[in-house]
Formats: sequence, C-alpha cells, structure tokens
Amino acid sequence: MAGRIPQTFIDELIARADIVEIVGSRVPLKKAGREYKACCPFHDEKTASFWVSPDKQFYHCFGCGAHGTALGFLMQFEQLPFPEAVEELAGRLGLEVPHEGGNAPAQRGQEELTDLLGRVAGFYQECLQSNPRARAYLQGRGLEGATLERFRIGYAPDAWNEVLRRFGATEAARKALQSTGLIIERETPRPGSEPFYDRFRDRIMFPIRDPRGRVLGFGGRVLDGGEPKYLNSPETELFHKGHELYGLHEIRLARTSLQRLLFVEGYMDVVRLHQAGVAYAAATLGTATTPEHLRRAFRLVSEVVFAFDGDRAGRAAAWRALQNALPEAREGRELRFLFLPDGEDPDSLVGREGRAAFEARLATALPLSEYLIAQLRDQADVSHADGRARFVALARPLLAKVPQGVYLELLRGRVAEEIGLNSERLRELLEDTSDPGYAAPAHDARGGADSPRGMNAERAARARRSGGSSGRRSILTQAIQLLLHFPAVAATLTPAACATLETISEQEIAGIGTLRELLAAMRAHPARSTAQWLEEWRERPEARRLGELFSEATLLDAAQARTELAGLVEGLIEQVRVGRGARRYDELLARVNARTASAAELQEFQQLLKDG
Ligand code: CTP
Ligand code: MN
Repeated sequence: MAGRIPQTFIDELIARADIVEIVGSRVPLKKAGREYKACCPFHDEKTASFWVSPDKQFYHCFGCGAHGTALGFLMQFEQLPFPEAVEELAGRLGLEVPHEGGNAPAQRGQEELTDLLGRVAGFYQECLQSNPRARAYLQGRGLEGATLERFRIGYAPDAWNEVLRRFGATEAARKALQSTGLIIERETPRPGSEPFYDRFRDRIMFPIRDPRGRVLGFGGRVLDGGEPKYLNSPETELFHKGHELYGLHEIRLARTSLQRLLFVEGYMDVVRLHQAGVAYAAATLGTATTPEHLRRAFRLVSEVVFAFDGDRAGRAAAWRALQNALPEAREGRELRFLFLPDGEDPDSLVGREGRAAFEARLATALPLSEYLIAQLRDQADVSHADGRARFVALARPLLAKVPQGVYLELLRGRVAEEIGLNSERLRELLEDTSDPGYAAPAHDARGGADSPRGMNAERAARARRSGGSSGRRSILTQAIQLLLHFPAVAATLTPAACATLETISEQEIAGIGTLRELLAAMRAHPARSTAQWLEEWRERPEARRLGELFSEATLLDAAQARTELAGLVEGLIEQVRVGRGARRYDELLARVNARTASAAELQEFQQLLKDG
C-alpha cells in the first residue's frame, strides 16, 4: 500500500490547476463577468446556475448545491475516488504523485524499472542520431525532428547485446532488464557464452509511456519488409496491453482542452496525427480495444471516436471494438465509428489531406447505435418476418452488454423502430427469460448525501448572491465566512483578540473551535488559498458547510474585510462577556439568597449590579 499523499502536494496541485480549464474541458462554459457559468452537469436544468470562479478556484451550483475545488470537480464529474482524482490532476499537470514514507516497495521496484526503461529509451534515441539509415527511414515517413523528440522515438542497433552490455552490468541489472522484456534468455545456452540477448535489434523504437511519461515498454518496427513488422514488449508487471494507450502522455503534453479522443490502430497513426495537429489521437497496442481502455478514455473526455481502415481487417476490428464498447456505453458518453477509404490509414490520410480535411471526416463518424443497426441490417433482411426475428436474435446478446439506463432504453427503442415493433413489446421479447426483476441503479451524480437542497435553499442562495442580507447569520458564521473569502486577513487580528478567543468554550459558542482552528491555520500560512484549505479539510465533518459558505459571494473587499473581521471578533467576545456576566450574576444571586456568599462574592455581586 502506498502511503498518504502529502498535503503539500495537494496544495501544489490546487495552486497549479486551473479550475476553468478542468471544468471547461468537460462542460461548455460561458464567461459571465469575472466568472464562468454553464448548465449544471450534476442535475438537469435549462438555465445556467452552475458557476466557476477562477479567483476562488471553486465551482458552485445554485440549483443543486454541488460545489468544490478542481479536485472535487474531478471526483464528482469523473466519479473518481480521491487518490485517482489526484493522479488525474497531477498527470494533467505533468507532476508525479509522491507518497508519505516513500512509496511502497512494489511501487519503488516499479519506479526502478520505469527508470531503467527510460534510460534505455534515451540510448535508443542516441542510436537514432548516429544511424543515417534509420533517420532516413523516418524522414521518408514524413516525421519531423520535433515529433521524434516529442515521442522519444529511437533506433535499436543491429546487434545482439548492446542493451545487455550497457545496462546489464550486474546480476541485479540483468534481472531487471529481463523482467522488462528487453533481454531474452537463450533457450539452448551454449557453454561459456552469454545466456541472454537483446529483444529489439535493428528496429525503429516507439517507447510506450504512461500518462505521466514513464516508459513502460516499447514497440519496435522493422525498417524494411521484414517480419514481424512490429515487435512489442511482452506483458510484464508494468506493461498491460489491454490497459495502456499509446499517445496519452503526448496528448497531455499538447495541453489542449480535450473534448474527445480519437482511437486509431497504429503507432505511426498516432505520431503522424499529432504532428499534423490532431493532438487527441491514441492507439491501443496491437490489441482490440478493451472496456478498460474505454474507461480510461472516458475519465478524460465524453466522446471517443474510433478510426478504422476501410479494409476487411479494419471492419472486423471495428466490430470487435463495438462489442467491447457496449459495456461502457451510457448516456453522457458518445462513441462513434469512422471508416477510412479502403487502403488508407490515418497516417497516410492526414499526411495527404492535412488536419482540416481529416477532422471534417471525423464529423461524419457514425454513432455507435447507427453502426450497430447497420451491421445487423447487413445480416438480417427486416422486410420479412424471419429476417426481423433474426434481427432481434442478433441484437439480443449485444443489448445484454449495455448497462441499464437511459442509453439502453434509447438503443432498444432504435432496434424496435427498425423492425416496426413497439419498444415495450421488444423489451418483453428480449427479457422474457432472464429479467432479474430490478434495474441496476442508473448512473446518477445527484444521489446520496449531496442531493439537491430544496427550492428554499436555492432561493436563499440566490438572494444572498444578489446582495441580500446575511443579517440572520450568527456572528460566528459571518466571521468564518469572511475568513474563507479573505484567508490572509486572519493575520491582521490582534494577539489580544486571539488570546481572548482561546478562552471561549464550545458551550458558550458552538462552533468556536472551527473559527479558532481556521484563524490559527490561516495566520500560520497566510499565503495559502481557501481552495487549498478546503482540500486539506475535505474529510472533516464541517467541510461541506465550509464549502457552502465559501460558495456564496461576498460584497466586501480585502480592506473592508479587515475591519469587518475585527468587528465580528469583538462582537463575539462581547457576546461571551455578556453571557458570562449573566451566568455569574445568577450564581452569585443564588448564593446571596442562600446566605452562603463570601465577603468577596458579595462585593463582586454589588459591582455587577452597578455595571448593569
Ligand atoms: N501491430 C503489432 N504487431 C504486428 C503488427 C501490428 O503489434 N506484427 C500493431 C502495432 O501497434 C501497429 C498496429 O498494430 O502500429 C497497426 O498495424 P499496421 O496497420 O500493420 O501498421 P501501421 O500502424 O500502419 O504501421 P506502418 O504504417 O508503420 O506500416
Ligand atoms: Mn500505416
């Protein structure tokens, strides 16, 4: 198990992330004054009540009360647990997530391996520089120097033990090399000679990197017509072909606001597309697209377009991709299929016609549902009853892969329409034997503890936002809200005021502890932003309330906030003093009446009477 992620790292993430970019790449935002607004992605609405504030680095919906930082948004929108949202955001910023107490041994081991692979990638890059034949090959394929750099493309020399010799000096180093698949043990070792040899020889080398740029493996292409055309690293503990996508790191480097991913088949396709400016292309690694690939993709974008060669192999691959995509199909996700002209692949096409024409083709890609229907129609003639029955029989196992929900309903409706049946009747036909009698809960970001607050809360929030009074708020709440809006102002409070606050108990003012903690923390770290504090306090019971208070707009500026805070704290102290006086008065009065008061207590009582 990896240790906790240090708070300083979360701070750095929040400081570096741009919430407008994070949200904006998933939800179309419109600028409105200093903020941005949109229809809320977390509940159904027709008018925009979802606001993103670049100043606060915070989002908030007046309709359903959803709110949070860039990290919170990723968690809520992508349905990611906290550590994965951190990984996601870090990956986007090109940062590596540290773990307290160092990373776990397994993870350290993996780091050593990716490190080794990275160094070997560097070696291959050097070899490319000094090999005119390899350079000429890549130039002939239309690749520019900057592209080679960006993808760290290299060349494995035409020799049996260059990698072994350079990187396998010790027994441990050989073990490491072997576990990455870079060297292979001879099946029939010859006595006295080297038992290992390099896997990759005389090939163009494509390092396969994880989203953060760590090298996990390689794909190597021959320079001539040799076989196999591509040789890949084997499955290792680091490298899982059904999981990794070639190009994700480079997509992140491109720093475009990602709307969609384009899935293509080959390394060269990805490289050439990126070079042409289609910087959202990724490839599976010589395997069919898996649901795992798609889950990864849908964490980043809501639209995936597959591009397949127009030949028979391409069509077969597309059909496999469709079948693997069905479990990941649902409302809010768009899956489309593009078929290229026979004999073309994205590499050749974008090289010939350029980015604009290529992207124009993307716009014509078939939605998954249409592709599915077209395929079924090819196999069943719906103009007669037998054909329609066959159509249903073919559709049934496919529909069974789609999770319950709106998307499935729509797809079923589409199939029903095709055979002239009503959708309810089709559903009965499809489910007659195996209906489990319940529907899996549909994906619904609104459920659970964060469900929308009532209309009253919404109206109240609106009123406050438009400058309505906060007069009904307790002084404590006002002080806390002020600190959230102006954390740096905490440092301006006098030490005397702070010392007095220390004496106040939770019985006297419920919630005083929260104010004290906020003050102490903000005084100690005046440069830290509220978004950062809220991330640190994410797990605390008061976190939600703090987020709500922060969501509301303030009418003050920093200078006003300073005097306002002093006034509020004074008010709190006064409130406590009055309360204490009243309690002491009651106490003394009881003693006086019972004739048990000491001389000093009598004097104190008289003083209290005088002071009123
Ligand atoms: N592939 C593989 N092993 C092979 C052939 C192909 O792993 N023996 C994978 C590679 O990832 C390759 C992809 O399948 O990039 C597509 O293969 P193909 O269409 O044959 O190659 P291209 O990508 O078009 O490569 P090139 O343009 O260099 O010929
Ligand atoms: Mn090709």
